[in-house]
Amino acid sequence: MSTLLLLPGDGIGPEVIEQVRRVASRLANDLTLEERAFGGTSFDQFGTPLTEEAEAVALASDAVLMGAVGGPKWAGAPRAQRPEAGLLRLRQAMNVYANLRPAICFDALAGASALKPEFVSGLDIMIVRELTGGVYFGQPRGIETLADGQKRGVDTQVYTTSEIERVSRVAFELARGRRNKVTSCEKSNVMETGLLWREVVTALHARDYADVQLEHMLADNAAMQLVKNPLQFDVIVTDNLFGDILSDEAAMLTGGIGLLPSAALGDPGKPGLYEPIHGSAPDIAGQGLANPLAAILSFEMALRWSLGRTDLADKLNAAVKAALEEGARTRDIGGSLTTAQMGDAVLKGL
Ligand code: NAD
Ligand code: IPM
Ligand code: MN
Repeated sequence: MSTLLLLPGDGIGPEVIEQVRRVASRLANDLTLEERAFGGTSFDQFGTPLTEEAEAVALASDAVLMGAVGGPKWAGAPRAQRPEAGLLRLRQAMNVYANLRPAICFDALAGASALKPEFVSGLDIMIVRELTGGVYFGQPRGIETLADGQKRGVDTQVYTTSEIERVSRVAFELARGRRNKVTSCEKSNVMETGLLWREVVTALHARDYADVQLEHMLADNAAMQLVKNPLQFDVIVTDNLFGDILSDEAAMLTGGIGLLPSAALGDPGKPGLYEPIHGSAPDIAGQGLANPLAAILSFEMALRWSLGRTDLADKLNAAVKAALEEGARTRDIGGSLTTAQMGDAVLKGL
């Protein structure tokens, strides 16, 4: 018996997680579902985006599935109280340093990509984003007022050898089970952390993964190459900020941001944190327009990577593919189904 903690969060978060709940009830009857308030919803109730109790439940679960957090209502709150700060705290508390963000173009959706079908058909990229370090957490940071009255904002990018090595190891291991190629992206031409990143990846490769093809690519060029020739990529490993940006970009190659799931993993045996890569989409929240597939596919990743149920993950993946092949489309991918109707379409295949 495994436990999955659901953190619906804000905006479209609860709408897409509701569809996961339906799918999970149909698929896995030996799974205990817990739920806690998170993000702005938790702030409104408890004055904090992540209560200590919810954090403890997360750490004690087998996997955590988050919807999305944030929104204009909380954008003016002090930084530490913002929904996004709750998410960053949870990622750090769970020590989920390797964020797997697959960008897969389903055959049925090659026409929904922002690129011509021949550029994306068969696309299967795994972005491995470092998730618990870098400029998201580096000190010092803050906004200070200078003597002359103007303000100064400071963020600091910091990486240690071990932080770079452990996430790169995940990337090399994944590549061995795929097309055996890793592209490491940084800006070693201008950043010290980029230089260290390249050194550490190169040394790890020579020491333990010489059988894997390794390529270094400056992150700005990688952004360009993703649009020019995305099929050249297999596994991409990169830092927290570049990984955030490159994965949103990769989403558009597959048909849209409403499709991309993610898995954040730490050391073996510890719970993973699963989340769609999209946000709370305040522009469409509450209207039943959100695509629930990114959340449903995140649940699939949880079955695969944390819950030891590859069989059910495969079954769910097949049901999603079948729904898309039969033409199920929410508005973001060119159709008119509601969130719940897309849920129905997936349930039909289970
Ligand atoms: P967003 O991803 O919420 O929305 C960007 C665009 O994509 C919007 O037009 C939205 O309607 C569309 N979109 C997103 N998800 C969709 C879905 N499932 N189906 C259909 N369309 C979808 O990004 P944003 O607008 O930059 O951010 C809004 C809020 O979400 C901010 O507060 C931000 O901090 C937060 N955010 C949270 C997460 C997260 O919880 N992991 C991720 C990104 C942004
Ligand atoms: C994501 C989001 C988050 C990030 C925000 C909401 C903290 O954009 O999960 O991609 O930047 O990591
Ligand atoms: Mn993002």
